[in-house]
Amino acid sequence: MKIIERELLERFKHYRQAHVFRFISELDELAKTEFLRQADAINLQKLSDKIRALVPVNKKYIGLKLEDISSQVNFIGLPNNESDERRWEEAYRIGEDALRDGRVAILTAAGGQGTRLGYKESKGILAVTPVKKKTLFQVLAEKIRFAEIKYGQKFHWFLMTSARNHEEIVEFFDQNELFGLEHVHFFSQGILPAIDFSGKIMLENKHKIAMYPDGHGGIFNAFVSSGLFEILERSNIDIISYFQVDNPLVRCLDPHFIGFHIKQRSEMSCRMVIKAYPEEKVGIFCTMYGKTAVVEYSDLIADFIYEKDTGGHLKFRVGNAAIHLLARDFIKSIGDDNAIRELPVHAARKRIPTIDAHGNPIEPESANGVKFETFVFDALQFAENSLVLEVDRRENFSPIKNLQGIDSPFTCRQDQLRLFTRWLLSAGAEIPVDASGLPPFDIEISPLFAENKRDFLLKWNALKSKPAICSGSYIS
Ligand code: UTP
Repeated sequence: MKIIERELLERFKHYRQAHVFRFISELDELAKTEFLRQADAINLQKLSDKIRALVPVNKKYIGLKLEDISSQVNFIGLPNNESDERRWEEAYRIGEDALRDGRVAILTAAGGQGTRLGYKESKGILAVTPVKKKTLFQVLAEKIRFAEIKYGQKFHWFLMTSARNHEEIVEFFDQNELFGLEHVHFFSQGILPAIDFSGKIMLENKHKIAMYPDGHGGIFNAFVSSGLFEILERSNIDIISYFQVDNPLVRCLDPHFIGFHIKQRSEMSCRMVIKAYPEEKVGIFCTMYGKTAVVEYSDLIADFIYEKDTGGHLKFRVGNAAIHLLARDFIKSIGDDNAIRELPVHAARKRIPTIDAHGNPIEPESANGVKFETFVFDALQFAENSLVLEVDRRENFSPIKNLQGIDSPFTCRQDQLRLFTRWLLSAGAEIPVDASGLPPFDIEISPLFAENKRDFLLKWNALKSKPAICSGSYIS
């Protein structure tokens, strides 16, 4: 162990990071072993490349001029005439065939820290539905279960966790007996050290380096290296439906989307929403250097956010709903150990709890360091074929990001209520609503009854006796 310690110290010295060992003599044997293990796992060469690349990476976006990117994005809009309808129906049939044939698996990014929400547990464990207070994980699991019954398939569901929430998530699924699903798999994403503004690795406390999840772009490396990826190859699954844990309206397995993806031989497909207001915190689709790309909201400068086109609309209005389909081999071409394709690293200035020179804790009030993250949508630059498909925001998109206000559990609950009510009204039920479509009471439709409007109408219309809808109604 001594030798390893000396070797490690030399390695860290070489990269001018030896300061991380300054409290090691105060640690007991167990803490010391754990600390050395943590230090040993850091790829210092890669980290130092990232630190060196920081300036150009930031420049790429922050120094971007309007003329570098075009707001023109080729996307398939929602159907608004008969010929569109036929095209969407054809895609639906192709998508359903792929689901019946077992060609699709699901991948959910759940490794984030949910700092804006500030919830003490992992975000997926947050109760979100109006009546039954189901958690995000349960809602997603029930949607998958619905599709399993409908298509006669047992779908594989891969969940990406992080070192900070892995055990908690696995335990939660165990306690809930995997919500009745058979093929649920977990893998933990990579972590990267945070650095201060002079490029030094930060300590969280005396016995822990400040390490954070490497962003949702971590799915590529973590999935392929987890060994779970082989399940896809063994089971002839070639399409992976990716979405994030925070959006309970998402359609986990959407036949329309899958059909378009197959028809266009796409390697990476994306769903988009028209931005609801200029400051909405979604990335925007654009064309950058001739390719479809996404610029994350945090990288957008004000000129881009408020820029209008000649029609008076927001120029950069095609928002990223963070819902994708990825071809299996495409994932491998980025995530494989030997892959030459590498996602760019984004650096974000963050408040990072740390310690001072004497080991006393510091809870910073403003950004004191940099976290590194990769983003899943940056893979678009590697896709030979990609497509962007519009999605009806009201039916598919209501992410939970903040504790209060916009994109919070409150707004998400309202969006669910409006959605359930719209389905019921379309089926002929009578429910009073306000101008925004909200009913005066809580109701809920279980995804196990139907997880989309089309199937809801079929099932509801087939009911011999229809339940009266009133406060607390739960349709299951
Ligand atoms: P966000 O960027 O919104 O992060 O992630 P977050 O963790 O939910 O919240 P903040 O930004 O800390 O407030 C969008 C999705 O990507 C996942 C999250 O779990 C969420 O589903 N994610 C994010 C990861 O899986 N890993 C990461 O490193 C970051």
